[in-house]
Amino acid sequence: MRDKVLGMSSDLKEKVTDIRRKIHQNPELSFKEYETSKFVQNELERIGVSFQTGIAGTGVVGLIQGKNPESKVVALRADMDALPIQEENDISYKSKNTGVMHACGHDVHTACLLGSAEVLNSLREEFNGTVKLIFQPGEERLPGGASLMIKDGVLKNPSPTGIIGQHVYPELPVGKIGIRSGMYMASCDELHVEIIGKGGHAALPHLCIDPVLIASQIVVALQQVVSRNGNPATPSVLSFGKVEANGATNILPDKVKLAGTFRTFDEDWRMRAHQLMKEMATGIAISMGGQCNFDIGVGYPFLSNDQRISETFRNSALELLGSENVVDLDLRMTAEDFAYFAQEIPGCFYRLGVAASENEKAPGLHTSTFNVDESALEVGMALMAFSCVKELSH
Ligand code: NI
Repeated sequence: MRDKVLGMSSDLKEKVTDIRRKIHQNPELSFKEYETSKFVQNELERIGVSFQTGIAGTGVVGLIQGKNPESKVVALRADMDALPIQEENDISYKSKNTGVMHACGHDVHTACLLGSAEVLNSLREEFNGTVKLIFQPGEERLPGGASLMIKDGVLKNPSPTGIIGQHVYPELPVGKIGIRSGMYMASCDELHVEIIGKGGHAALPHLCIDPVLIASQIVVALQQVVSRNGNPATPSVLSFGKVEANGATNILPDKVKLAGTFRTFDEDWRMRAHQLMKEMATGIAISMGGQCNFDIGVGYPFLSNDQRISETFRNSALELLGSENVVDLDLRMTAEDFAYFAQEIPGCFYRLGVAASENEKAPGLHTSTFNVDESALEVGMALMAFSCVKELSH
C-alpha cells in the first residue's frame, strides 16, 4: 500500500500542481468560494467521485466507498477560502483577484485533498470502509465554515468515526510533517471595547472626561486578568492590536475604540476571563467618570488532537516518510476552525512542511509574499491518502 500511494502521488504531482496554481490564481474570500467550489466539483466529477453540494453554502462533500463501505467511515478535510491581502509575489500564477490572496495555503490543502481523492478512488478495491471528503468554506472568518457544515449535517449519513486535516507550515522544510497529540491550538475570541468619555480642549482636561487615559488604564489593567486570575499552567494570551482615538495634539476625543484578541486552552477559564475582563474594564471606566461597552465575539474553541487517532496517524507518517521526517510540534496560540470537528469526533490536525529547505524558511502565513515549495503537494496528498487507509483499517 505504501509504495502504491507513493507511486500514484508521484504520478499525480504535475496535475495537482496545476490544480493548486489554478486555485491560487483565482482566490475567493470566506463564504464566497463559488468558483473554487465549482472547480472542486468538476475535479471530483473527472475523478469519478460522487459528491453533494450546498453544505454551508459553497461546501462540497465527496464519498469514496471501498469494500464493505459500512464498516467504517473516515473524513478528510480541506478548507477553500482565501484572505483579503494583495499578493506581491512575482509568479506566473499570481492572484487575478485584486486584494484577495491564498496567503494561508488553503489552495494547497484543497489541491492535496483532490489528489488524495484520486489516489483513494483508484485504490478503493483495496481498503475497507468509506472516505468522506470535506471541502469547507470560510475557515478564516467567524463563525467558521466547519461549524456551519456540522449544523448542516456533514458528520452524519454516514457518520465518520475520525477526521484528519492538514495545514501548511512555513517553519518546516518540504518532506517533513509535524504532529502533536492532545492540546494543540488555542481558542480565539475577538474583543471590541468602546470607551466613552467627554471630549474637549486638551489644555482643559478638568472640563473633559479623557477616554484616551481610561483606555490606557484598561489596556494595562486587563493584563492582570491573564497574569493574576488565570492558572499559570494554562496558557492564555491577551493582545490589543487596534487603538482608535481620533483626537489631536490639542483635542481630547469623545471616545476610544479598542480591538483585541483573547486566547486560551480551557473552556471554563475562557468564560470566566470574559466576565472578569468586562467587569474590570467597566469598573475602571466608571471610576474615571466614563462608560465602557465591552463586546466579545466568541470565536473558535481550542483544538485538541485525539490521542488514539493521532497515534495511528503518527505511525502512518513514520511508515510513509521515515522517522527523521516526523516532527513533534509545540502548542500554538493561533486558532483553527477544525477544532469544531475535533470537538465532535476524534480528530487529527497536522502540519505539512512547505519551506524550500531547513535554512530557508518560507514567508509567513497571512503575508503578501507567502508561497510554498510545491514539492510539498506530493507529500500532502500521499500522507492524507495513506493515513486515511491506515485509519480505516485500524
Ligand atoms: Ni489557514
